[in-house]
Amino acid sequence: MNNAAGPGAGESPAEVLLKVDNLVKNYVSGAETLRILKNVSFIIERGTTAAVSGQSGSGKSTLLNIIGGLDRADSGSVTIGGRDITGLSENDLSLYRSRRVGFIFQFHYLLKDFTALENVMLPAYIFGVKKKDALEKARLLLSDVGLENRLRHFPSQLSGGERQRVAVARAIINDPDMILADEPTGNLDPGNSAMVTEILYDCAEKWGKTLIVVTHDEKVAGRARRCYTLEGGNLIPAGAVP
Ligand SMILES: Nc1ncnc2c1ncn2[C@@H]1O[C@H](COP(=O)(O)OP(=O)(O)OP(=O)(O)O)[C@@H](O)[C@H]1O
Ligand SMILES: [Mg+2]
Repeated sequence: MNNAAGPGAGESPAEVLLKVDNLVKNYVSGAETLRILKNVSFIIERGTTAAVSGQSGSGKSTLLNIIGGLDRADSGSVTIGGRDITGLSENDLSLYRSRRVGFIFQFHYLLKDFTALENVMLPAYIFGVKKKDALEKARLLLSDVGLENRLRHFPSQLSGGERQRVAVARAIINDPDMILADEPTGNLDPGNSAMVTEILYDCAEKWGKTLIVVTHDEKVAGRARRCYTLEGGNLIPAGAVP
């Protein structure tokens, strides 16, 4: 993000992946207008991990959903890899979401009638990757998240932490530019939360993915290279880890 120290001698500046400019989002509720995002601007370099914290209702999910193309801003722009997504048609936005973004939510949203392996391979298979290749990559990713012995388990046969680990693997299979995680450990006990946090960051680093995680949990935010707080409709840098 833009509070990073500049490059040292001999280092080239990191590529900017995400540029958010003057983002504004209001919700009209009866006679009242809720000003959720007042004027949010920031950049994120490719490969960075960033955490966004803030009180309940401060607009964290709203911001993440706009970046991920699940919601639209009232004004301002969101540019990914040089392409502004704010003017995209619903169809192109849907393509953007599938190709460029891996989502992880508080609830896993795994398909209950499919095994862990099938849940992870499906997004790739739907996109036209050959079944054999999609299965191979899904197996590799499930091994990365420590579930090589749970490939044939259905979601109902997995623990909460295991389900979130499947969700991490599924978020990566289509090789997205960014992983957007909204309270990924929100339903987990402290032990599972620590494990999913470690796996999420390790996988993002291993696969070179930019990660933006929204969290209430300081331990989850603590591993991010950049920490931000959303407060009063503004995104405030909360310090950088060297
Ligand atoms: N569709 C909507 N219509 C009206 N108000 C909305 C809508 N969606 C969200 N809001 C309001 O916008 C504010 C921000 O919501 P958001 O879900 O982004 O908060 P959040 O920071 O993610 O909170 P939490 O930590 O509880 O998940 C909230 O006050 C919410 O009530
Ligand atoms: Mg939220």
